[in-house]
Amino acid sequence: MPPKTIQIIGSLNIDLITRTPRHPNPGETLTATSFTYGPGGKGANQAVACARLSRSKNNQQQQQQQQQQQQAAPPSTSSLSTPNIHIDMIGAVGNDFFGHHLLDELKANGVDTTRVQQTDGEKTGTAVVIVEEDSGENRILITPGANASVVSPPSLFLPSSSSSSSSSSMTSLPDLIILQLEIPLATVVNIIATARESCIDVLLNPAPAVGDLPRDVYKGLKHLIMNETEAGLLMGALGSETAEAEEEKGSPKNAQDICERFHALGVTNVIITLGAKGVYYSFRNEAEGWGEGGHVPAAEVETVVDTTAAGDAFVGAYAVAVVGHGAGVAEAVRWANRVGARTVEKEGAMGAIPWGDEVGGLPV
Ligand code: ADP
Ligand code: NA
Repeated sequence: MPPKTIQIIGSLNIDLITRTPRHPNPGETLTATSFTYGPGGKGANQAVACARLSRSKNNQQQQQQQQQQQQAAPPSTSSLSTPNIHIDMIGAVGNDFFGHHLLDELKANGVDTTRVQQTDGEKTGTAVVIVEEDSGENRILITPGANASVVSPPSLFLPSSSSSSSSSSMTSLPDLIILQLEIPLATVVNIIATARESCIDVLLNPAPAVGDLPRDVYKGLKHLIMNETEAGLLMGALGSETAEAEEEKGSPKNAQDICERFHALGVTNVIITLGAKGVYYSFRNEAEGWGEGGHVPAAEVETVVDTTAAGDAFVGAYAVAVVGHGAGVAEAVRWANRVGARTVEKEGAMGAIPWGDEVGGLPV
């Protein structure tokens, strides 16, 4: 069987993180505690999550070494392990230091970056994060940069022309497209419409939270994964959030009501992540048109170190479970819930996402 393909169309950012005892006042200069930078952006994080969670850490490192050796001394025949899922990232970075850094990081994690555009006139997107150590409060400024230039040409779904040993995967359409909202909304809406026409499954993670989405987006949407804030805002825009519902937020009954609303608009699987409270999911029974699902409590965590990228890891895990392992929604949600828990135990965003063999449950 040819490998499956997950295509992630979305943002690539560099996170610039300064830790400081307190935020400076207007006009004040402070000496910070530390500064780090690293790859991020919801698109890139979810692509890396898909890649890591469909591979084992050691295999990927061995394969990379082998590829490097092959480049030095070509005629080697078999590749050590063909990834069972081809992870194809589509997006844009600048032709600058940050852009090169992002592409290197994604490749090292097993993501195909052939179709990430490097645009000369653009700067790579950045997220400037100031962490106030005393309060733990973050202030974040995002400059979209090249992410704002991602448009959807008709060729978007064409198979990648990159050559790898798994050339058979390049001749078919993706098995799943994953989208978030850090590229222009018009692009996202366009892609969803085209995917619908081509019968390609789409997973939409409507993050960061927006007030409103065109209703067409939900029609025929296979997977909708959002956190409570995002769910609340989208529901508000749909005009059905009563005071009573607001009060019950997070309780299973309200969660099911929310899910039903999205089912009614045409979404098959609705998943609401609840942070430390776990996750609520509902899937639509195609034959009868009603939703069923339930609440899954969060997996146990030793110490919550950093919740950054938990949602992105969840999305990647869910996608890998569904596409790579043929898991049902309930099973995929449970595995993703465990992956989310592993991610909050580690400092950092992309670097905190576990590899497939670091999470038990599904075979890697
Ligand atoms: P986002 O980062 O998008 O806001 P959530 O905070 O809802 O997303 O987290 C995504 C998932 O990660 C949760 O559904 C849960 O599975 C896991 N998770 C997040 N925080 C915790 C926590 N404190 N303990 C255990 N699991 C967590
Ligand atoms: Na983390």
